[in-house]
This record gives sequence, C-alpha cells and structure tokens, in this order.
Amino acid sequence: MPTTDVYREAEKRWRHSLQEPGEELIDFELADDRVRRVDVAADAPDWLRGAQLYALCGVDGFRFLRCPFSPEEELRWSHAALAAWTEPEASESNLDLTHAGERGALWAQHEAAPSSSALRHLSWVTLGYHYQWSERRYDEARRSPFPPALGALGADLGRAVGQPLRPEAAIVNYYAPRSSMGGHCDDAEPCQDAPIVSLSFGLSATFLLGGPSRHAAPLAMRVRSGDVVVQGGASRGCYHGVARVLRGTAPARLREAASAGGGGGGGDDLRGVAEWLERGRININVRQVGPEAGWDEDPDAAAAVLAGGRRCRDDG
Ligand code: OGA
Ligand code: MN
Repeated sequence: MPTTDVYREAEKRWRHSLQEPGEELIDFELADDRVRRVDVAADAPDWLRGAQLYALCGVDGFRFLRCPFSPEEELRWSHAALAAWTEPEASESNLDLTHAGERGALWAQHEAAPSSSALRHLSWVTLGYHYQWSERRYDEARRSPFPPALGALGADLGRAVGQPLRPEAAIVNYYAPRSSMGGHCDDAEPCQDAPIVSLSFGLSATFLLGGPSRHAAPLAMRVRSGDVVVQGGASRGCYHGVARVLRGTAPARLREAASAGGGGGGGDDLRGVAEWLERGRININVRQVGPEAGWDEDPDAAAAVLAGGRRCRDDG
C-alpha cells in the first residue's frame, strides 16, 4: 500500500519558503484562533507565576511558554550549554568520535581561537542518561550525573504547565543558521507519560508539530530565544522537528545584557556567548526516562526497564 509522507512534504516546503508569520505559521506573539492562553498551574514556582502560557486548540498536552527568562538568564543557561555541559565528564557528544583529542575545554578553545576550535563541529551533547543514537535507546552503563540546576529548571517548568517531570536525560542540540532537524518522535523513554520540556536560546526557528504518524500535516510555529515548548499528553508521541533555523534573528537584548556585564558570570564570557547566539541556536531537550521515582536504584531492574522503550508508528 503506498504511503504518503505528508510530514516530509510540509517539512520541505517550510525549509525553503513560507518563513513569515501569516496565515499558516503560528506566532505566539500574534493573535491566532488556533491558539489559546492558559493559566499557569496554581502551584507554579514564584518566578513562573506571571508567565505567558499557551495551548494549541485540538492538540492534547502541548504547551508553549513565551520566554520566561531575563536576558542574563538566557545568557547564563547558554553559557552552561556551551562551557560546563560540553566537558567530557559531563556529557557524551558527537565530537567523541571525530575530535576526541579536543573534547576538553571547548569553550576556552573557542574563546582563544573561534575560527579553528572544535566547537564549530559540535552538534549535540547528551546529559544524565546518554541517549544512544544508533540503538535508539538509553543504556544503564552510559550515564553521568544530571546537572542539578537544569534538573531544578526542568522540574519548575513542568510544574508550571501542570505536567510534572523528573529530569533524567537531556539532549542539547547546537544549530547553525539554515540548519534543520528532521521529523521524528522521541520514543526511547520507557516513560512516555511525562512531558518533554524543550528550551531554546539564540536564533529563532520554524518548529513543526505533526501527528502520531507521518500522514498528518504538521502545524508550523515560530520558536524564539527563551521560548519553552512542552510536549506532554498526546503531543508527547507526535512527530516534530525543526524545519529551519533563521539567520539574523537573535534578539538584541542578549548583546545588550552581555555588554552591560550582567549575569555575574564575567562580562567577557557572556559577550562571547551573546556573539555565539547571534550565529547559532541552542536547544535543551529535557526528558524523564523511567517510570516511578527510584526505578533506577537497582541496575539490573533499571536495565530491564530501559530495554522496554517504546516505538512510534512509522507507517501511520
Ligand atoms: C529533540 C528535538 C527540537 C528543537 O532534540 O528531540 O526535537 O527545537 N529538538 O531543536
Ligand atoms: Mn524531539
């Protein structure tokens, strides 16, 4: 039986044209009858009380939180993603295969010689339980401590949108302008009930959210620096991806905050971060892996849980 990859067709279209907010592209900064404002949960942490939270009509569990961060916080999280989390003790990375000898101090290398550092070749790191790309699974033996501050942030965001999670794994993606991420669904986590919390910094992107199979046409939406996308409920199992990262779209507030020396991380450091964010996009994709708390205490039991990851439907 012939199948039609409707998602892929839309992805190609969005990659090459139709990049402006309008009839098709959802922009959460503009009125749109496909979008509704929802209240932040009553037990949200104080710093997220006034946040602007949205849902998509007819899409269960999807939430979009407009940037709840100060520019200094955007710089600080981005700095963590570029410096602390790229250290070999903290992460696995695409560079483990190609640049093993230059894996340490990537950010220092970049600051010393931006045009020749291995940072230019960084496309992802994994934190906590390290996602194994070829097996499309997690492995009990491949695990680093999950960064505590990111764990607290992910938990805060989940609570604020009324979809709690226990962050146990993260994929951090580093994008260049015009790059993309093909449509996929994240089905390696044995726990598919907790949401994925996805944070983005730097350049804007066109994000696509499809249905449970590739037969469904995706909705396209603009994701800007600091915005948080939450895929919970039925949307947890939906195809999604990034059609394109858009050159020249980093907000001026990042450079301004870095020049003002904000953030307490050292003015110079943050200026470099702001410059990186003008030519790149960071996506921090936070997941809960296992079911109930304590599932990972016994390694054999945890390995059995991890072996049972789910699979999305490819055929539709
Ligand atoms: C992912 C993902 C989306 C993004 O890492 O699984 O879907 O916005 N990222 O970069
Ligand atoms: Mn994904």
